[in-house]
Amino acid sequence: MLAVNGGTPVLGPGDIAPWPHITDDDRAAVLAVMDRASPWRWPFEPIQEFEAAWAQAIGLPHTIAVNSGTAALHMAVVAAGVEPGDEVIVPADTFLATASCVLQANAIPVFADTLPDTFTIDPAAAERCVTRRTRAIIAVDLNGLPADYDELAAVARRHNLALIEDAAQSHGATYHDRPAGALADMSGASLNGSKALSALGEGGLFATANEDQYLVARKVMMFGEEIAGRTRDYNARIMGWNYRIDLLAAAFAHSQLGRLPQMTRVRQHNGAALTKALAGIPGLSTPVVPADRTHVYFFYPLLVRPEEFDLDVPVAAFRDAVVAAAVAEGLPISRWQHHPVPAQPLFQDGRGYGRGCPWTCGHAAPARRAYHPGDFPVAEETCQRRLVLGQSLSPFGPPNDLSTMERYAEVLHKILVTERDEFVRLAREIGTGGA
Ligand SMILES: Cc1ncc(COP(=O)(O)O)c(C=O)c1O
Repeated sequence: MLAVNGGTPVLGPGDIAPWPHITDDDRAAVLAVMDRASPWRWPFEPIQEFEAAWAQAIGLPHTIAVNSGTAALHMAVVAAGVEPGDEVIVPADTFLATASCVLQANAIPVFADTLPDTFTIDPAAAERCVTRRTRAIIAVDLNGLPADYDELAAVARRHNLALIEDAAQSHGATYHDRPAGALADMSGASLNGSKALSALGEGGLFATANEDQYLVARKVMMFGEEIAGRTRDYNARIMGWNYRIDLLAAAFAHSQLGRLPQMTRVRQHNGAALTKALAGIPGLSTPVVPADRTHVYFFYPLLVRPEEFDLDVPVAAFRDAVVAAAVAEGLPISRWQHHPVPAQPLFQDGRGYGRGCPWTCGHAAPARRAYHPGDFPVAEETCQRRLVLGQSLSPFGPPNDLSTMERYAEVLHKILVTERDEFVRLAREIGTGGA
């Protein structure tokens, strides 16, 4: 019997290890840095050491550790030369920050639809969005799978645009054997506690191969000041903010970075094993991983397919029934973005900073480009059908292993195969508003 109907849940408390996975090495690293942190002075050596370690891990010379992925992306947008009214192309299905980092530069995000199999930005759709105001494209390695960088780089080259990688979800992934974080002209990665490389609390990483971009990004990171050596002249050259990373967060993330290759292997084995175990379960499609790249399953995305079930309930009822049944079995599966980002009131109402800025700031195209959610059919369909496993709830990282994946698969098998009739009743009830 399904747990939602009073049966015994497949997974009990403690069966899924939480994320991040903290070891004694991490604890020792944080304590050791505490002793090196007094008196306060910037830049702290442990932060510089962390930046050097990220530079080495991804093979780019210039990296800056900051206090969020959003900050790193904003720095990249400014370093790309984006100015008020300029346009930056971003995928319609992503986390808000991919688009709001453009607003932060008083520029205009222009949304492009995504691809139905990998869920990353469609390079052809991105190219159709190019206007004379376009300065950059931000690609997102959604769920932990890199975007189509060869095609995107070709679009960027054809139109003289900067290409920025939003690597918030993809630490450890590769594209043509190159590491995520080094797949475009610049990257912004998140170190938020849930991420594949975690600072436990908040953090981010900016990276570039270009020294000029690096110098601009550094100014944005710290009050617009030039930071030469250890002395400050308190003299803002450009608009800048305080995007400095917390020292203890950097120490934790640096310690985790040492284990990133090992943690990535576990994630990849776990994700591949789950895909294998779910093969043949009707009503769900598992993630596609093209041969030229690797997935790190920050999220393990599933699309619900009631059509395969021969069931006369809408997608939403089927999806919500899977959630209700799986959560009762102890598997924390959930929806992620409910709609493409341009459907959010920020874009629909065009409030921005108030008085319609930046859309009305005078430098932007005279007629505000309306954001029609219907313009992104693939992203909308993905948002309606998608359920995700991952983040801090049911991680794919260590110490969860193949036996944990078997339990995840057991839950979905129980719901959609063994107890199919109960599930169908539940979906019908939800479809008619009865559950
Ligand atoms: C795709 C994507 N971009 C950007 C961000 C922003 O990162 P942060 O939360 O560290 O600011 C996130 C984080 O959730 C994300 O998932």
